[in-house]
Amino acid sequence: MQLIDGKALSAIIKNEIRLETAEWVAKGGKKPHLAAILVGGDGASETYVASKIKSCEEIGFQSTLRRFDASISEDELIDQINLLNEDEDIDGFIVQLPLPAHISENRVMEAVDYRKDVDGFHPVNVGRMCKGLPAYISATPFGIIEMLRRSGIETSGKHCVVIGRSQIVGLPMSILMQRNDNPGNCTVTICHSRTTNLKEISRSADILIVALGRAEFVTADYVKDGAVVIDVGITRVADASKKSGFSIKGDVNFSDVAPKTSFITPVPGGVGLMTICGLLTNTLRAAKKEVY
Ligand code: GUN
Repeated sequence: MQLIDGKALSAIIKNEIRLETAEWVAKGGKKPHLAAILVGGDGASETYVASKIKSCEEIGFQSTLRRFDASISEDELIDQINLLNEDEDIDGFIVQLPLPAHISENRVMEAVDYRKDVDGFHPVNVGRMCKGLPAYISATPFGIIEMLRRSGIETSGKHCVVIGRSQIVGLPMSILMQRNDNPGNCTVTICHSRTTNLKEISRSADILIVALGRAEFVTADYVKDGAVVIDVGITRVADASKKSGFSIKGDVNFSDVAPKTSFITPVPGGVGLMTICGLLTNTLRAAKKEVY
């Protein structure tokens, strides 16, 4: 079993982005500027956004955080998005999800100018990704592709099973794994809450990507010997022994599953750390006008 070390890989990628940024700025290019909108005070969202802003500082980007109360109306939020759409100094921005229940995430995602949509959530970016056209690829799928690529994992002709059909992870992941590219060229099965024979399908995977958001759901009986297992889960579970009061669990029961695998990502220290690399890469592409 080989551990895919998200901490080490993400440090390498961030350093590559830092060097490319420095070179771009030295040649007179504009310093990339990422903005983030945070609505309400969800603990996990606060942590993620703080980490995105910190990463910007580390690699030489400018960043802006716009915070709004959870009571902001959908129309007011869209007005704020339009201000960022029109702000020529902002290269790209994100609206951190989830949003309060009274706000339509779909309407918000569509309000972001697709040329600044560094999260890759706008239908134009999703559609262009499906067609294999230049697009912003969303952060988590980008991170997983980079983990597979940089670990030298052969994917061509393999059966890839994705558990979870979310717009953010499962759906784009299934598209990327089947495309004619490397990594890619897999036969893909996508499973979800209505899948009846989940364990059998999961057990037939050469590459198993788990993104359903249920702590330690996947046990050894879901995994074929020698499979590659990518765990996208990040669930906070109450843990009195921790100062924070919680610990982070993946969707995979690591100690049970790891001995059966050829490669596995840990949680924490796996996919989660890689996602920011996707966001930063997209922001640099946006500043350099490489996609649009
Ligand atoms: N919430 C969970 N993942 C993400 C992400 O990649 N982008 C945004 N904006 N919100 C998220």
